[in-house]
Amino acid sequence: MSRIVAVLSQDSGVGKTTTALALAQAFALGGQGALFVDMDPGGGATRLVGLARPNAGLLQRILQGDDPVAKTGLLVRSLDVGLDIIPSDASAAEYEPSVADFGRFQAALDVFRLQYPWIVLDAPPSHDGWARCSLMAASHIVVPLQAELFAREHASQVLQFVDETIGERRDPPRVLLLFTMMRDHDSLSADVLRDLKALYGPRLARTIVPRDPAIPEAAMLGRTLLQHDFESRAARAYVQFAKELMNHDRAQAR
Ligand SMILES: Nc1ncnc2c1ncn2[C@@H]1O[C@H](COP(=O)(O)OP(=O)(O)OP(=O)(O)O)[C@@H](O)[C@H]1O
Ligand SMILES: [Mg+2]
Repeated sequence: MSRIVAVLSQDSGVGKTTTALALAQAFALGGQGALFVDMDPGGGATRLVGLARPNAGLLQRILQGDDPVAKTGLLVRSLDVGLDIIPSDASAAEYEPSVADFGRFQAALDVFRLQYPWIVLDAPPSHDGWARCSLMAASHIVVPLQAELFAREHASQVLQFVDETIGERRDPPRVLLLFTMMRDHDSLSADVLRDLKALYGPRLARTIVPRDPAIPEAAMLGRTLLQHDFESRAARAYVQFAKELMNHDRAQAR
């Protein structure tokens, strides 16, 4: 059965979109099919990969039950970088998925689960219906934590949001915190990382993503990180993180 990874944090600019895109592409390049879903009404990822945003509201209609879930297939675009994506709709910001919509979103994703071993959801920086919809569908939650003083507070806020939202879900998602934008030779980052390790143990991913100019460079050129510089430190870290998630998954399956 495929895995659904939601990259989630209410904090803005912590690296969710960068992480979600790099992760999906790393799965795809590793021979594991991946579908990327831009759940952020802001549409940052959709713009980054150079897609025009549809303005048809089809996903919203499917969520409301006005169109059948099988129609979700019409939303998929294939990029020449080997990644399939459901772009964010231009009208998504005017719609707030409700609890009643969450089940239909999961049913829509079920349409793809035979085709894609990994489905990656890029959530918006909020606690809105799109974020909760992503969270409720996820088997894995990845929380990027920027290497800075308030990382601990941010981690506990996201974990609280996850707990409150999933409630009594029978199969709670597995949460992994990902330390990112780590500066070299920076004692503050190192202290924060030590703290997080002590607090969260195995819930903190082993992979650490360094601050790397290849990421803003790629964004400026309208390319994904792995397309722009596969050998960059950040790209290698994300490939490593994809492997960490796959191994994690195998260990759980045993
Ligand atoms: N490891 C990194 N090294 C350097 N810059 C990075 C790194 N990760 C992300 N960035 C830069 O940080 C900014 C925010 O990243 P990104 O858009 O991925 O965050 P986000 O959490 O999705 O933001 P939002 O909350 O607005 O959706 C971008 O300009 C991106 O290029
Ligand atoms: Mg984003």
